[in-house]
Amino acid sequence: MELLSSGIDGLDLMLGGGIPKGHIVAVVGQYGTGKTTLGLHFIYAGLQNGEKCIILSFDEDEESLIQDAKSFGMDFDSYRDNLEITRLEASEVKESLRKIKSDLPEIIKGMGANRVLIDTISVFEALFEDEERYKALAAIRNILKNAKVTAIITSEADKNNPMSSKYGLLEYICDGAISLRYIRGSELEEVKLGLEVIKMRRIKHSRKPKPYEITDTGMVVFEREEIF
Ligand SMILES: Nc1ncnc2c1ncn2[C@@H]1O[C@H](COP(=O)(O)OP(=O)(O)O)[C@@H](O)[C@H]1O
Ligand SMILES: [Mg+2]
Repeated sequence: MELLSSGIDGLDLMLGGGIPKGHIVAVVGQYGTGKTTLGLHFIYAGLQNGEKCIILSFDEDEESLIQDAKSFGMDFDSYRDNLEITRLEASEVKESLRKIKSDLPEIIKGMGANRVLIDTISVFEALFEDEERYKALAAIRNILKNAKVTAIITSEADKNNPMSSKYGLLEYICDGAISLRYIRGSELEEVKLGLEVIKMRRIKHSRKPKPYEITDTGMVVFEREEIF
């Protein structure tokens, strides 16, 4: 089984080498936990490896994502030929689904893309009623699977359960799920960040949440340390 580096050493070690090629992985976390940062590492690792990559953003625009990456020392500009960033407006969502269904397979195929980041799917999910939402997610899953890309899809967490995605559906259509969350030991302790691999098909992964930080080189996962 071929494994792709996530671009984060500690996370690769937690996964026993990396993300299985062809997997779709959900990254779930509250605002500010580092979902976009993790996604940018994943894309940058692909670019550095000579792979073609696509970012589908429902949130930040192209310039903002490139600046985010730059602030962590990732130079997306020198890989512009291998990188396609598409921003989809939430307000045009019904339009977006049609656009995704028709354009995404063509963009992936035309480019020969290997990695796809969708950031964040919650904005897209919010536009559908319950039943339609599942169908829309399943449509995206099918497109990514048919195109045989490896993908990360980020999602806001459920308010009452930080391990679950906002609508509790994404985990089911993905091959893997990673939770990013704030962990507080007691009222007096500083809040810490913890990363946990909740599911990863075909991989024997650790289940313990591990501490991580966001630094000026991006996300650093301390896979050998304990949170408390
Ligand atoms: N250079 C940096 N050094 C330390 N922390 C940073 C730096 N840049 C961003 N951050 C932290 O990363 C967080 C943003 O991460 P981001 O990936 O955008 O989160 P999310 O996509 O989950 O909302 C910010 O809230 C900030 O705390
Ligand atoms: Mg984000």
